[in-house]
Amino acid sequence: MNLKDYVYLNIKNIPELNTDVDLNNLLIYTIDSSLGDVSLPCFSYAKKLHLSPMQIANNFATTINCDAFEKVEAVNGYLNFFVNKQKFATEVLNEALNEGINLGKKNLGEGKVVCIDYSSINLAKYMHIGHLGTTIIGNTLKNIYNFFGYKVYGLNYLGNYGTPFGKMITGYLHYGSKEDVEKRGVDAIQEYYVKFNQEVDNHPELMDEARLWFKKIEDGDKEALEIYNWFIEISLVEAKRIYKLLNITFDDWTGEAYYNDKMTPVINELEQKGLLKESEGAKVVDLEKFNLGTCLILKSDGSSLYATRDLAAVEDRYNKYKFDLCLYVTDVAQKLHFAQWFKICELLNKPYAKNLQHIYYGRYSLPTGKIGSRFGKQALISDMIDSAYKKAKDIMLTRGTKVEDIDKIAMDIAVGAICFGVVKNEKTKDSVFDLEKALSFEGETSPYLQYTFARCNSIISKTKINEDNIKLNNDVSDIVSTNTFELIKHINGYEETLLNALNKQEPSFISKYLINLCSLFNRFYNENRVIENGIVNQNKLAIVKVVKNILFSGLMLLGISPINKM
Ligand code: ARG
Repeated sequence: MNLKDYVYLNIKNIPELNTDVDLNNLLIYTIDSSLGDVSLPCFSYAKKLHLSPMQIANNFATTINCDAFEKVEAVNGYLNFFVNKQKFATEVLNEALNEGINLGKKNLGEGKVVCIDYSSINLAKYMHIGHLGTTIIGNTLKNIYNFFGYKVYGLNYLGNYGTPFGKMITGYLHYGSKEDVEKRGVDAIQEYYVKFNQEVDNHPELMDEARLWFKKIEDGDKEALEIYNWFIEISLVEAKRIYKLLNITFDDWTGEAYYNDKMTPVINELEQKGLLKESEGAKVVDLEKFNLGTCLILKSDGSSLYATRDLAAVEDRYNKYKFDLCLYVTDVAQKLHFAQWFKICELLNKPYAKNLQHIYYGRYSLPTGKIGSRFGKQALISDMIDSAYKKAKDIMLTRGTKVEDIDKIAMDIAVGAICFGVVKNEKTKDSVFDLEKALSFEGETSPYLQYTFARCNSIISKTKINEDNIKLNNDVSDIVSTNTFELIKHINGYEETLLNALNKQEPSFISKYLINLCSLFNRFYNENRVIENGIVNQNKLAIVKVVKNILFSGLMLLGISPINKM
C-alpha cells in the first residue's frame, strides 16, 4: 500500500468527495512535505458544485475528520492530507517486518514462462565490456521475473558459429602450435585471432583460407571439427570462469551452431507462404512496407544468416518451453535485426509472434586509459574484475578493515561495483564505466549499499537481540520525526518500485531506490541512537532490520552480494 492508497482508502467512503470523480486518480503526491503528504486538487468538483475550488477545498477540510490523518488543510483549491504518521508507520513497518526479505513479492507470474536470451557471447572473442550490459541486465531481469513467481529460463545463445571460427583455425595454423594452446589456452587462441585480423589487411588470401575452414566445419570435416570443438571448449571454460565470478547462471546453453542444420523448415515455410524473394542471388524477405528494409535469409552461396538462425531457434524454444514471453537482451545496435525477424514471425502467424521482445540498452565504455586491455581495443571483463578486485582490496587495507575473508569480500565489492555500473542508469542510456568512482564507499555506488547493509548488520549484532525477535512497540511516537517519516515513506515505496521495475523491465528503478534508501537511512542513523545508555530502542531497531532486509532483497535482485561485515 502506498501513501496515496492509504489516503484513498481512508476517504473513499466520504460521500461529498465521491461525486462522479475518479477520486483515486485525482490524488497526487505533494512535492513539498510541509504541504502534507498527498493532495486532492478540487478543480474537477467546481463545475458540478458551482463553487470555486477554494471554497470546495475549505468545505472538504471541515468534513473530513478521522484518525487516519493528523490534519487536512485547504490551500488554494487543494486539499492537503497530513497522514497520521504513527498509524501509517505502524502499518508500514509491521508489514515489512512480517514479510522480511519477501517484501513486495507477489505471485504475478504464476503459471507463466519467460525465456530470457542474454549474454549470448560470440565464443571467438574474449568477453569484453560490450558483453556486460546483456549479461548483467539479462541476469537482473531474470531475478526480477523469478521474484514475481514467473518460471524463468536463462538462455545463453552461444555465438559458436560463423567465419570467426575459420579465422581462428587459420590463425592457429599460421602462428600457433598445439603445445602453445595447451599451455596458454584461451590467451593463445585469442592471440592468433587478433594476429589474423591484423595480417588479413595485407594478405587477403588469408580470408579465403578462413572461409574454407569455416566451410569445412559446416561440412563436418574431421580435422576442422576437431580444432573447432577444441577451441570452443577452451573458450567456454574461460567464459564460465567469468560467469562464476559474476554469479551469473544459465539454464540453457544451446548455441547458434545447433541450428545450422535446422533451418530448412523455416526457409520452406517462408517459401510456401510466398514471403521469400530473390535478390541478387540471395533470398530475402521484403519488409519495406513496414519500414524495416529487407531481411536476408539465405546468402547467394547458400549459407544461412543470423536472422534465419534466430527464426529456427525461436521455434525450437517455443516447442521446448512454451514461453509466454521471450526476451532478447542486446545492445541497441541490433534493433533492426530483431524488429525484422519478429515481423517475419508475425507474417508467419506464429503463436508466439506477440510474445517476443527486444530489450535493448545503450553503450558502456571506459574513461580512456584507465584499464589497458591485453587484446585489441576492447576492455576485457576479466581485466575489469581483476583491477576492481585489486583496488577494492587496497581500499579495505587502507581503511584498516578487519575481516576474516578479505579476498572474498574484495571480490564481492569488485563484482558488485561492476554489476552496479550497469544497472545504475536507465538501461537505454550510454554510460561510462569509471571503476575508480564505482569502488568508492561514498556516493551512488554499490560499496555504499553494501557498506550500509553491513552497518545495519553490525547495529543489530551489537544489541545482541535475535533478529527474529525484533518487533515494533505499540507506541511508535519516538520514530515519527520528519526525517524518519521520510525514511518510512520510502520503505513503503519498495513494493511499488519492484513492480515498476518489472513492468518497465528497468533494473535502474531498484538501484536508484536503494541509493535513496541508504541516504535516508544513514541520515536516520546519524540522528538517532538505537542503543542509548545501554537500552535498546525497539522501534529504531525495527527500522534497522527492515532496511537491512530491503537491502538484502534489492542487492540480490541486482546480482550484488550483500556483505555482512566490511
Ligand atoms: N551473439 C550475438 C552477439 O554477440 C548476440 C545474440 C543475441 N541473441 C539472439 N538470439 N540473437 O552479437
